[in-house]
Amino acid sequence: MEAVTETHIEELPRLFKGKVRDVYEVDSDRLLLVATDRISAFDVVFSEGIPEKGKVLTRTSNKWFSMITHIPNHIISTHPERELPFLSRYPETEERAVLVKRLRRLDIECVARGYLFGSAWKEYLEKCEVCGVKLPPGMRQAERLPRPIFTPATKASSGHDENVPFEECIRILGDREIARIVKETTLEIYTWAHNLLWERGIILSDTKFEFGVDREGQVYLIDEVLTPDSSRFWSRETYQVGISPPNYDKQFIRDYLETLNWDKKPPPPPLPKEIIEKTIARYKEIERIILSL
Ligand SMILES: Nc1ncnc2c1ncn2[C@@H]1O[C@H](COP(=O)(O)OP(=O)(O)OP(=O)(O)O)[C@@H](O)[C@H]1O
Ligand SMILES: [Mg+2]
Repeated sequence: MEAVTETHIEELPRLFKGKVRDVYEVDSDRLLLVATDRISAFDVVFSEGIPEKGKVLTRTSNKWFSMITHIPNHIISTHPERELPFLSRYPETEERAVLVKRLRRLDIECVARGYLFGSAWKEYLEKCEVCGVKLPPGMRQAERLPRPIFTPATKASSGHDENVPFEECIRILGDREIARIVKETTLEIYTWAHNLLWERGIILSDTKFEFGVDREGQVYLIDEVLTPDSSRFWSRETYQVGISPPNYDKQFIRDYLETLNWDKKPPPPPLPKEIIEKTIARYKEIERIILSL
């Protein structure tokens, strides 16, 4: 199967080409988000796509959006071909496109973590705290935290995202109440999803949410939700403290890239066929579990 790495919808102006999504303007209130098969790691987009990854992300997010009742979400339609019949000319958008409310995106990545991994592990090793949250000494990589923590990161338009303390998050958002809402909602949804997946043998290590605000000031959950691009999923069976646990997410690609002599700057190295196949197999396995919730 061919990967979809580019989309061109002649009828709609393209507003933005993200690392993964192509964002089209429908009108002043609505956007069309199309998840391609592009994959990025360390903020570099690879030349190869992961066939069907965009479909997996879209179906997985849509399932979560339909289950999450904690806060309104941006979805207008998961079948945009009904509102926009010309999409039938673009079969590559099938199961990849959603029609959403166009909102003012909050420029903070809202991360919840229940385990010590990734950038949080690195920060902990340096200062025994993460985003200003003090943690017990002597913790090990991938260890469960005493309780889930909110670790916001800046959405740097160029360069890498940076973890920031909650006070800095309030300053960036410019509104203490909105900061409180996104923090509480992030932790609530994380805890709820962690418990659901735990029952199915999956550990949700951490996840990232994005939020947007409408003209009336209502906060919405936007972008993608609890997908293997935005989350770390481990198997309870093979989980082990002190290592990078076997996973159903992008960590597999990151772990592979760490074995190369690559400086994590463009141009990216080629992705071997075997790595692409193993990645999509992992994405599909976690999709199967999520769709069965
Ligand atoms: N409802 C919405 N209203 C406005 N913007 C949205 C909405 N939903 C998602 N977005 C934005 O659309 C883009 C989706 O593209 P993609 O996920 O590929 O971006 P990205 O490379 O992760 O970029 P970024 O660093 O900006 O998040 C993101 O910038 C996301 O914040
Ligand atoms: Mg994104």
